[in-house]
Order: sequence, then C-alpha cells, then structure tokens
Amino acid sequence: MLAVAVLAAGKGTRMRSAHPKVLQPLAGATLVDWVLQSCEPLNPQRWLVVVGHQAERVQQHMQRDGQRLEFVLQQPQQGTGHSVQQLLQPLADFTGTLLVLNGDVPLLRSTTLHHLVQHHRQSGSAVTVLTACLEDPKGYGRVFCDDRQRVTAVVEDRDCTDEQRRNKRINGGVYCFHWPSLSAVLPRLKADNQQGELYLTDAVGLLDPATQLTVEDATEISGVNDRGQLAACEQVLQQRLRQQWLAAGVSFLDPASCSLSPGTRFGRDVVVAPQTHFRGANSVGDGCRIGPGALIEDSQLEADVEVTFSVVRQARLARGCTVGPFAHLRPGTVLEEHCKVGNFVEVKNSQLGADVKAGHLSYLGDARLGRGVNVGAGTITANFDGIGKHPTTVGEGSSIGANAVLVAPVTLGRDVTVAAGSTITSDVTDDALAIARCRQVEKKAWHEPAASHRSGSTSETAADQPS
Ligand code: UD1
Ligand code: CA
Repeated sequence: MLAVAVLAAGKGTRMRSAHPKVLQPLAGATLVDWVLQSCEPLNPQRWLVVVGHQAERVQQHMQRDGQRLEFVLQQPQQGTGHSVQQLLQPLADFTGTLLVLNGDVPLLRSTTLHHLVQHHRQSGSAVTVLTACLEDPKGYGRVFCDDRQRVTAVVEDRDCTDEQRRNKRINGGVYCFHWPSLSAVLPRLKADNQQGELYLTDAVGLLDPATQLTVEDATEISGVNDRGQLAACEQVLQQRLRQQWLAAGVSFLDPASCSLSPGTRFGRDVVVAPQTHFRGANSVGDGCRIGPGALIEDSQLEADVEVTFSVVRQARLARGCTVGPFAHLRPGTVLEEHCKVGNFVEVKNSQLGADVKAGHLSYLGDARLGRGVNVGAGTITANFDGIGKHPTTVGEGSSIGANAVLVAPVTLGRDVTVAAGSTITSDVTDDALAIARCRQVEKKAWHEPAASHRSGSTSETAADQPS
C-alpha cells in the first residue's frame, strides 16, 4: 500500500506574496499541481494534502483539478514535523509506505519517485531520504551519514555549525517512510531549534535504519522558497516541455522565446515562431503555423491554421483558418473552415461560417455569419445597448460594405449587400441591397463665400449639412 502526503500548509513568507506559495503560477499550472503530477504515475491508494495557510483557497484550487484528495488541516503551522503529525489520525489504520513531499518541489520526475519507493521497499528501511550533492547547498538541510551509508541526522542550514555547513549532501524534502515506524516517533519531536518548530527531519534521525537515495539530476530536487527559485524552475519546466514537443515533431524557430503549458497538445509539423505562448488546455492540429508573436489560451485549432501576432482565447478554429496580424479572438469565437480574420479585428462570442473574410478593423460580437460572408473594413456590430447584449445574424453569401454599423438585434438574410457607411437598424431580406446613409450632395462650381458676406448671409457654407 502506498499513500502520498503533500505538505502544503506553509505560508511561504520568502515569496512576499498575498497568495499561498503552493498556488504560485508555474509553467502553465501551479507549484503544487506539478508536485501532484509527478506522483500520479505511482498510482497511490491514498492522496493526503496538509493545508493550513489560506487552507480554503488551496483546497478549492486542488479540488477543482478533480483529484481524489483527502485534505488535512494544520492549524497553526508549527513546522514540517507538526504538519506530518496531523496525519496520525487519518492514517491510524494505515500500515504501508508513506511518500512525503514538500509542496514546493516541482521538478521531480516520476521515474525518480518510483525509484525512491522501490529502493525504500527493497532496503527494508524505516525511512529513505531523497538527497543530492550540491555545489551551493545554502538554505537546504544537510544530510549526515555514517560509514555504512546510514543517515544519522539531518540538520537545517540555520542550525548547522560552520563545519556542518560544508557538507554538500542536502535533503530534497522528499521521503519514503514505513508509516508504523514514523507514527511511533512523531510524538517525540521537539522544537529545540533556531526556528522553534517541529522538524520532520528530526524524525529521520530517530528512525533506524535510515537510508538515502541520491538523485542523478540534482535540479530535480530544487525547492521554491523565493521568486528567484520560482523563475529558475519555470525555465527548467519550459525547457522540458519544449524538448518533449520537439521530440514529438514540433518545430520551434526560437525555442527559448516561447512558453508552453502542460495542457497543450500538438499535431505533427506544427511550426512555432518566436515569441509565441500557449496557456491552459490547447490542441493545435497538424501543420499549423503559430507566431511570431501569438498568445493561444484554452483553444482548439484544427489542421493548417495560421496565427500571426494575435491573441486567441477560448476559441475554436477549423482547418485552414488564418488569423492576424493583430487580431483578437475572444471567448466563444468559432471560425469554420478557411476563415480569414485579419488586421485589427476583434471577435467575441461569434460564429463565422466557412470562408468568411473579416480582413480589417472590425468588431464582431454575439454574431452569426453564414458561409462566405465578406465583412468590409471597419464593420462594427453594435451589440450593446447600454443594458444588454444582442445578436446579429448575417445570412450566407452576404457582403457588408466598409464602415457599416449593424445595430443589434438585427438579422440580414442571404446574399444581402450592405452599402458602405450604412447604419443598419432594421432586418434586411434575402438578396436585397440595404443603404442607410445620407446621399452625397454635389454643388457645382462652389467657392468659399468671402468673409465679409458671411454674417447674416443665408447662403450655404461648407459646414452645412447637405439636404
Ligand atoms: C525543508 C527541510 C529541509 C530541506 C528542504 C528541501 C525541514 C525542517 N526542512 O526546508 O531539510 O532541505 O525542505 O526543500 O523539513 N509546511 C507545512 N507546515 C508547516 C511548515 C511547512 O505544511 O508548518 C510545508 C510548506 O508548505 C512547504 C514544505 O512544508 O511546502 C516545506 O516547508 P519550508 O518552510 O519551505 O521548508 P524548508 O525551509 O525549505
Ligand atoms: Ca522549501
């Protein structure tokens, strides 16, 4: 039996943040999401999370992720040993292996954890500590071993003597315990250290036999205590995500300038140009060309879509669409096949049928456009009357002239033509031409009247409205 416990009750004082440390955003997820994700392939029977600082928020976030988690409250937070003491009751009947992870170690590989559990079980240890040897071990607890390679003590950086501080073997904050052995020593922890806290690391010193496993890649046990370490972890995770997708057939023209989220999936032969960012859950079909300069969030792009210098959020784009440069597709946008949405066009909660073209300077909100509609430059759907939002419908094959305003709610039939500059306030029937603007007036051989004739004169001036 394997149970996993994640310690996530701490405040994270060194982050200097209003938010709990474990909820800090990291590579498209949160710090604690990455910790949980690394444990998933182990298929533990039980998942426990110790929460305390802003417990409700942390719990809400994690529940939303749909995990089968048991939350255990630690109130107040008196150290990592105190945190694990809170498990005594929920694990009262548990007799198996407990994998404990600090909630701030996001770079662990599942294979490493698997190896740790295996090593622990084979060695029959009461505890196995995951360690690394660091050139700069500052800030981490130091792990001391005897000549049989048994762990004798773990001493926190701030509690070390100068001599002890030279030890480069550090505690990764990840442990495998034989739970019955740990539960027997947990009540014996004392707060006789510089921070006046109950340290889980002291329990390691009380257990016998205590062994350690050294990680090959020391970056894996990087802990996040401040923003600098958070940024460093971001780099590592981004690098891993890019490498994963490079290996799977995605081209990145300037990988370091792009960022990915774990929920983004790519087809084959996708080309990602510089300064392109993916957030949330996306699927990007075969042959898409994204960027330069794009932000894609929670969107589905079918094959051969092209997006240049644009923002696409919660949108669905069918195959062959081209977007940008400088387009903004907002939530609820659906583009059917081969649409073109171009320069300075904003689309929100609207469905554009196949082959629709909206090339320049438009706003389309709460609209449904049929197949092949041509949206002239500067066309605006006036969807908001100050109180509510209203729909605009345009039938297939219609053509909207430049600078038209479609005042919603309004319905235009099929193959309608709207004259440029029209303000359309009433429905238009199929095949009709709608013109809703003043007719141009031309005054032949007209000259500006002399200034002396102006006062009291009734003759027309350039400022007059045409009749
Ligand atoms: C801890 C270890 C240190 C190790 C390092 C690895 C102890 C005493 N020290 O130090 O040996 O090298 O991790 O990264 O364990 N937490 C609680 N309740 C509390 C306090 C903390 O749940 O009362 C949680 C925090 O949310 C955090 C984790 O425990 O996720 C670690 O706490 P932190 O204060 O960051 O420990 P470190 O000082 O980094
Ligand atoms: Ca830490």
